[in-house]
Order: sequence, then C-alpha cells, then structure tokens
Amino acid sequence: MSLPNAVKLLNDSIIHYRGEPVGTSAACDPNPVAANYTECFVRDFVPSALVFLMRGETAIVRNFLTTVMQLRGQQQVLEGHSRSRGLMPASFKVVTGDGEERLEADFGDRAIGRVIPVDSAMWWMLLLRAYVVTTGDWGYVRTEEVQTCMREILDLYLRESFGSAPTLLVPDGSFMIDRRMGVHGNPLEIQALFYGMLLSARQLLSCSGSESAVLENLDIRIHSLRRYVRRHYWVDRERLNEIHRFKAEESGVDATNVLNVYPESIPDWMDGWLDMHSGYLVGNQGPGRVDFRFFTQGNLLAILFDMATPEETAAIMNLFELHWDELMGEMPLKIVYPALAGKEWMMHTGSDPKNVAWSYHNGGNWPVLIWSFVGAAVRCGRTDLAERALARLTERVEADQWPEYYDGKRGGLIGRRANYFQVWSATGLIVAREILENPESRTLFDRCTRVDLEALYCPVVL
Ligand code: GLC
Repeated sequence: MSLPNAVKLLNDSIIHYRGEPVGTSAACDPNPVAANYTECFVRDFVPSALVFLMRGETAIVRNFLTTVMQLRGQQQVLEGHSRSRGLMPASFKVVTGDGEERLEADFGDRAIGRVIPVDSAMWWMLLLRAYVVTTGDWGYVRTEEVQTCMREILDLYLRESFGSAPTLLVPDGSFMIDRRMGVHGNPLEIQALFYGMLLSARQLLSCSGSESAVLENLDIRIHSLRRYVRRHYWVDRERLNEIHRFKAEESGVDATNVLNVYPESIPDWMDGWLDMHSGYLVGNQGPGRVDFRFFTQGNLLAILFDMATPEETAAIMNLFELHWDELMGEMPLKIVYPALAGKEWMMHTGSDPKNVAWSYHNGGNWPVLIWSFVGAAVRCGRTDLAERALARLTERVEADQWPEYYDGKRGGLIGRRANYFQVWSATGLIVAREILENPESRTLFDRCTRVDLEALYCPVVL
C-alpha cells in the first residue's frame, strides 16, 4: 500500500482500550477545532476499517464492532422513557479514573444540538458484513451477543412510526451532516444507508440460520423502499418535465401527484441544470416538499448498494461530468449543491456561522467522499472519472496536511474551521486508491446485492 504519510496518520490515530486497538480518532490535529474530534466516531471509522480489512488487520475491526455493540447498554435513561438498545453511539472515548480505563459513549447526549446518530447502527451493520466478507468469521456472527444486537437494531429501525412511506423518518442532523441543515424528514443519505443496512442484515441473518418469517419481512421492506425511492426521488429531464406540468391538489386513490408537489417549488437553479443524459436522486421527499439539492454521499451510496438502477447510475455519473467544476472543483467533492444562502440559510440552519454558504456541510468540499465516488464510478465502468478525481485530490490534500473540508464555490480554500490531520481525509484516499488498483477490494461494500455471500462463505447453516 503506497501513500506512506496517509498510512502513518492512520496508525497514529489508533485508540487502545486495555491494551487492545479498538478504533481510530477522528483527527490527530494538535489543536482540534472541538474536543470530541479526538474520539472515535462510528462513521469516521468506516474508511479506517476498510483500510485495515484491506491490509488483513482484522482484529481492530472486530474489536471495534464488539466495543460499539457493548456500548449500546450505556445510554442514559431519559426522563419519562428509556432509550431503545438498537441505537448506537455517534462516538466513544477512553477515560481513565482510579487507575482504571473505561469507555464513555456519546449517543447525542453530549453532541452539539443533541443530534441523534441514526446512521451509526447502519454503518455498524455494513461493517459487520464487510468484516465477514473478508474473514469468513461466521462464528462471530452466530454468537448470541451479535444475533441479539442485530435483532435489537432491526426492532428499532423497522418499528412502526408516523411516516406513511417505507422510507425512514428522522430528525435534522442525524448522519454525516450532524447540524441543522434542513435535512430532517426522509433524507436520501439515510435512505441509502437504510437500504444497504437491510440488505446486509438479510444476508447475515440468512447465513446464520434466521427464521424465514424474519427474512420475508426484510424482503418486503427492501423491495418497497427501493421502489419508493426510485419512483419519488429520481429526477431527470423527463421527470422534471412531469413535475413542471403537475396538477396539484388531487385527492383520492387515483392521484398521480400523490405527494402534492407544486410545480412552483422547482428552484430557479434547476433551470437548465440537467441535460438529456443526466439525472440524480433528490435530497429529500415529503408531502408537498421536494428538496432538489444534490447530496453527493446519498447518490453515491445509492449506486454502491444498487438502490439506483444501472441507467440511473450512468446518469448520475454523467451529471458529475457535466458539472465537474461545481461538483469537483479544485478539491473533490462537494457535499451538497447548491449552498443555502440568505434567508434560506437563516431558516434552515438557524443562522449557523459554521454552515454559511459554500462552507462545511453547506456546500463545502470533503476529501473523504472520494472513496464512495471512486467505488461508484468504477462500479459502472467510469474509471476515467475516478482517475480524474483522484489525481486532483492527491495533488493537494497531503501537501495541505489532510484538511477535514474545503471552502468556496470551487472548494479552493482550506475550510475556515477545518481540522488538519483529519483521519478520514487520509483513509478515504487510501481506500479510493485500493478500489481503483485492486478489484478484489470492491466486494467490501460494492455490489451489496450481487455478491452471493452465501456461496462465498456460508458454511452449512446450523
Ligand atoms: C463533524 C462531521 C461528522 C463527523 C465528525 C467527526 O461533526 O459533521 O460527520 O463524524 O465531525 O469527524
């Protein structure tokens, strides 16, 4: 594995607990922007884990999975109700007291804005699958502890709630974008993760002897979720034209505009943004509400997990090519396009100065997104785009000392409040390189639905 400085940053970030490696810190900046960047974040550990798995260092990944699984019990009981055990922490740290080490987890109870990490348990399940794909360690999956954990996660994520769609209804800031950004409701990134998580759970459970009723239940949700997202989130020229001419205020079961989207809600920036060959999945959907913003990670994960069709996948890649300057700019990749400005910024972020237009979550450029971009591009044969993005990133990110994010319309400036030595800026690059150079590494996440896990490793079901 080349990139020695990226590998060194990863090695320096390893967190030990009672002598064992259990995770990596989010940043190794000597002056981190916030104290919790020294903690191990579940979502940040994902590209670290992929590097470890690719290097054959599987123990740290298993330790991490076990640690996070055991932390489930640690969440505080809120006044009036106890929290579900299916929720996993956003991050954890090792604290020492009376000469003893102990772990302390944050389930959103210490986080800015008290945001809930809905994505953690979903990343955990995806990582459990990637660990098994690499090691064939079915003994681990079959342990009572892991089986119970998977059940508890599914209990929470499949629980009946107030949403009328098969998508997952969540509060604002419940994933990588963990501050108010108008991403409450049914954000795309959560739906893509949900889909990938359900597929992973299905594969893991069917290989570890789960009852067919549980699997059937999962199948129903997997299919209805995919159908719904393809129907309501996809937009290309043809679909945009339909929305443009939508008749609104239809009631009854025969309505075509079932979510009552008003054509007037199509934002001005969409005019001319799509050509005949491009399209994407919109950021959010709800009654009378389409969030037309382009969210990069949600679109890329939808490709990696096969939630998007092959035609849609090709059209999303065409969109990147068409808007290369806006979506890649000087430093790949833009997290969301376009940025919220003025009144919209005030209303949706609560006037958050860290999220001003073209900065941080609000249209900043994030090097970590390179691994899912390269994975998605390679997946549909666009290695040309993968190489182009990778070349651009590699040129600067190391020389700039691995910033967390970049600012500006074209991502030309190091983020105003970005950490240096942000670990996932380095691990994202290592993973992207490996995906491009070593096709075997692609099975870790790629082709979630197509890899026949059972045929690969599943021994006789007990
Ligand atoms: C910020 C990011 C979040 C990340 C964390 C640690 O809060 O928004 O996605 O997990 O930093 O890097």
